[in-house]
This record gives sequence, structure tokens and C-alpha cells, in this order.
Amino acid sequence: MSGLAQAPRANGQPSLSERADALEEHMMHELEHIVTKSVLFGMADGKVEMESGPALMAKNPGKYMLMGEDPRLPKMPAKPTLVDYFRCRFASTAHLLQSATHALKGGHSEKVVLACLLHDIAVVSFIRCDHGYWGAQMIEPYVDEEVSWAIRAHQALRFFPDESAGYAYPDMYVKLFGPDYQPEPYIVEEYKRARNHKHYMTSRLICVNDIYSFDPNAKVNLDDFVDIIGRNFKQPKEGLGLDSSPSAHMWRTMLWPSRFL
Ligand SMILES: [Fe+2]
Ligand SMILES: [Fe+2]
Repeated sequence: MSGLAQAPRANGQPSLSERADALEEHMMHELEHIVTKSVLFGMADGKVEMESGPALMAKNPGKYMLMGEDPRLPKMPAKPTLVDYFRCRFASTAHLLQSATHALKGGHSEKVVLACLLHDIAVVSFIRCDHGYWGAQMIEPYVDEEVSWAIRAHQALRFFPDESAGYAYPDMYVKLFGPDYQPEPYIVEEYKRARNHKHYMTSRLICVNDIYSFDPNAKVNLDDFVDIIGRNFKQPKEGLGLDSSPSAHMWRTMLWPSRFL
């Protein structure tokens, strides 16, 4: 589907990305509807481009645009809950479950456990960049403000040690970002504001319970948290994403990520 077709390799064989594009195009033709990608998905491949509706229609005669669920994705129930998103839309839950398990074993409050359980949901389901802000916004209408505030602030706090709370700058960050990495100025300012906030320690506890070295043998299970979710996450009766909250559209986007409009 790339508009910027690469030159074939010298041996005449298509390149890996040409083969991927061809496969994607083939799969699109197999589907009943025309499936499109948002521009953001292409930007992650280094391309700022999109195909117009008429061009796609011309390539797929007799088909309409996909305006609902994507048949390639796990089927979601008619009224999805947060647990359904965990099971069908979160690409990985081990890190979240380990962090929450750690907080639970540490005897922390249910709000802290829930904050740990949800702190990186943006990473595993939506968008990595500024994941603390996205994650907080997603859950804000459904949780106590202590939980969403803590998730938003962990974006900044995790870059700054607080030895008195048992949090050192993670070795993993040196490995991931290099020894010279410095957070952006907006993160430094966010940290300064968060430092004196009444919920500072809740956010700091997300950092303390953030498990950077995943233990493949640890036994973690979402079932252990279903009751805590039930008591602390206001599940909308219409289904998460099908309600009228200020962040419902974000959940709908995960429900139907390839909907044309
Ligand atoms: Fe995080
Ligand atoms: Fe994390």
C-alpha cells in the first residue's frame, strides 16, 4: 500500500518491505470491506502519507469502507468492560500484573494497586509516546482522581530518584536510553509540580512497584484483580467506549482501530 515504492533489489527479488506491502494488499482484498490505516500508523514506519477514499474505492471495486469491527482482531462483546480490553486489546499484560501483584503484596491501598495495574495501559494498547498522559486521560472519567493523577505524573517521576521512598534511577533506563539521556524540559517542570502534590506518594509508589526486570516464572493472573477493578473502576453500563464520557472515543478507537472515519 506504500505510495513510496522502493526500488526492487539488485537480484530482481522484491524487498522485505515490498513483500509486506503486497501481503497487506492481498489481505485487504480478502476482506469484505476496505480496511485503512490511520496516518499515525504509517508515521511509525517513517512515512507521512495516506490513500484517499476514492483511490481506495477504485482499487477495490464493489467494496465499502470498513465502518465497524475489524474481523482480523479478537471479537469484543457488545458491552465491553475493562477486563475485556485486558483480554482482547492489550498486547501484553505481564508487566502490569507484576507491578500490581508487587503492590498488593506490599500491602498498599486498592487505589495504589489499581494505579499500578493501569499505569502503562497506553503502552500496551494505544500509544507509547507520553504514555502516562494518554493512560491517565483514558481512565480519568472512571476512577478516583488519585489514580489518574498518579498515572499521569509517573510519566515524569520515573526519571527522578527519591531514595527516601526507595526509588533509584532505574539501571534499565541507562540501558534503554543511554547514560547521557536527559528528560525534556516539560518533564522536568512536571516533576517539580508533582513533587509537592497531595498525591505525590501514590505516583511515586507506581515507580517503586514498576517491575523493570520481568520474571518469566512469576505467577500473575488478571483474576486476582477483578474484584479490585469492580470496586474502583466505574464500568459504564453501555460498555466501555460506547458511553458518553470525555475519553470514550479513545476506547472506541481501540475497539475499532481500522474504522475509516
Ligand atoms: Fe510507564
Ligand atoms: Fe511500567
